[in-house]
Amino acid sequence: MDIEAQKRAAGEAAIEYVEDDAVIGVGTGSTVAYFIDALARMKHRIEGAVSSSDRSTRLLQERGIRVFDLNAVGEIPLYVDGADECDPLRRLIKGGGGALTREKIVAAAAKKFVCIVDAHKCVDVLGRFPLPVEVIPMARSLVAREILQRGGQPVWREGVITDNGNWILDVHGLRIDDPPGLESDWNQIAGVVTVGLFAHRPADVVLVGDGRKF
Ligand code: 5RP
Repeated sequence: MDIEAQKRAAGEAAIEYVEDDAVIGVGTGSTVAYFIDALARMKHRIEGAVSSSDRSTRLLQERGIRVFDLNAVGEIPLYVDGADECDPLRRLIKGGGGALTREKIVAAAAKKFVCIVDAHKCVDVLGRFPLPVEVIPMARSLVAREILQRGGQPVWREGVITDNGNWILDVHGLRIDDPPGLESDWNQIAGVVTVGLFAHRPADVVLVGDGRKF
């Protein structure tokens, strides 16, 4: 099965977790776009969605799905999102699409986090995909220096401004043997808004486009 077909299969498989009358947390990316299409086909059964990005908000609204502010709904039963990498313990690298901060917030507010990926996202050790870090613009160089000291090679995603008005550093050259440790440590660097490592709050279920589930 090619990658696009796997993304579609994973996105559509996540529909089985959607409960009637619920507000669904919706992530960002090309795999999630398939989930949104499938959600639109059953939109009369749900209350609406909380979105993790302006891009997903547009897709949802274009399909007639009501988008709620997270502050208006509290805990949500389900969050569905993609990932850039996923390890066997369902810990993730996210943020390739630049939406990592809102994705982490919606994931934190969700009772169940279902991650949808194609098979090439599954790795034994995280770090081959450059780790996105959202930073306050004035702290870009400071954060980059701190990351260099920790062994990473930060590259500024120049020209990209996040939905929150911030910048992104993509950190190359990592082998992340201790994901929760790295997430905690990097979160302490002044100027870091979000590290795109989802280790303290991993996915609860990963649906792979080749039919695997773990
Ligand atoms: C966006 C993300 C996406 O989930 C991640 O980049 C995967 O995207 P895609 O499904 O397009 O491969 O974290 O910030």
